[in-house]
Amino acid sequence: MGKPKVVLGVSGGIAAYKACELLRRLTESGHEVRVVPTAASLNFVGEATWAALSGNPASTEVWESVHEVPHVRIGQSADLVVVAPATADMLAKAAHGLADDLLTNTLLTARCPVVFAPAMHTEMWEHPATQENVATLRRRGAVVIEPAVGRLTGKDTGKGRLPDPGEIFEVCRSVLARGAAGPDLAGRHVVISAGGTREPLDPVRFLGNRSSGKQGYALARTAVARGARVTLVSANAALADPAGADLVRVGTALQLREAVLKAAADADAVVMAAAVADFRPAEYAGGKIKKKDGQEPAPVALVRNPDVLAEISADRAREGQIVVGFAAETDDVLANGRSKLLRKGCDLLVVNEVGETKTFGSEENEAVVLGSDGSELAVPYGPKEALAEVIWDRVALLMEARRA
Ligand code: CTP
Repeated sequence: MGKPKVVLGVSGGIAAYKACELLRRLTESGHEVRVVPTAASLNFVGEATWAALSGNPASTEVWESVHEVPHVRIGQSADLVVVAPATADMLAKAAHGLADDLLTNTLLTARCPVVFAPAMHTEMWEHPATQENVATLRRRGAVVIEPAVGRLTGKDTGKGRLPDPGEIFEVCRSVLARGAAGPDLAGRHVVISAGGTREPLDPVRFLGNRSSGKQGYALARTAVARGARVTLVSANAALADPAGADLVRVGTALQLREAVLKAAADADAVVMAAAVADFRPAEYAGGKIKKKDGQEPAPVALVRNPDVLAEISADRAREGQIVVGFAAETDDVLANGRSKLLRKGCDLLVVNEVGETKTFGSEENEAVVLGSDGSELAVPYGPKEALAEVIWDRVALLMEARRA
């Protein structure tokens, strides 16, 4: 099999320079990339840069190399088209099927998955015209990644930033891996909790756990690539923001509960991948707890935290909402998993075996997905993204069954 063929469309925004990094990641990971810049984008990054980095000519107009019929051929032979950055103008043209240059022609002839990574000022992004164009593109099966929130051109900040190129690359990889399967979570809102909560004892100390957040972030990335609107409630994870997810940062179990309940109000699925502390110190010392000469330390009294998973399972914010829990077990993994599934009342429970060196912080995972219908699906040792895809497959099936 040859290298997967990717068309990188670049439209005229200042974030065009970030597409160089995306291109580098694509070529270095074995993709054959053809860059199709718009004429306006060449004001930001020149043709020579694209040609040198991709090893292919980078044409803008349909009138170059006409004998090769590029306006049809490039789109037809692509395995993926990604437009990054996609300006408001580009989204409008794509939504209306205009074809006045090579990139817009390519978008019309492409039969492969298409990803748009918009970047523009907040006002332009929020304008009803842009929002309707985005909705049209999504309805037709394109993956339109929500812009990131942060510094825009100049001094202003807001929603409209191009997400980190490395994260756009991850979305492209997931979309390519799914091939013709398409964005099956389009129109769905999913909420994912990730990381590990920290329960403060005093201003410098906390009770925490070793969860890295990688599995939850992998769930967020793959859900974006499958077209979902994603809210990621992240507890103390030191990881790059996944492209396209609305990120809510929390610290403690109580903060996590509040953020998850709020986001779950209109969610189609909630996946509790976070390691939530079962207990928190009964008292918080406003000042640092000091050791005292000749005295043993005072014992730390703990109180129970609410069980968020059990709570949202018992009291679903929406009819048919799917709730997924995780279980980290060290012994009797399956038996403990089964009884935990019953106790928590969720639809699916992803059980993994943990230990000092297993799972926590690693890139790989091995798990069994238990269903409240008695089903049991073993997922072999592999990347956390692969487990995430299996979980979304199961969630998508349940959503379909409940809609029927
Ligand atoms: N969880 C939660 N709220 C808590 C504790 C856990 O929502 N206060 C969720 C986790 O996000 C995870 C699932 O419950 O999805 C399983 O967590 P786990 O810690 O394994 O369960 P426990 O009830 O703590 O079981 P045990 O103490 O027996 O291990």
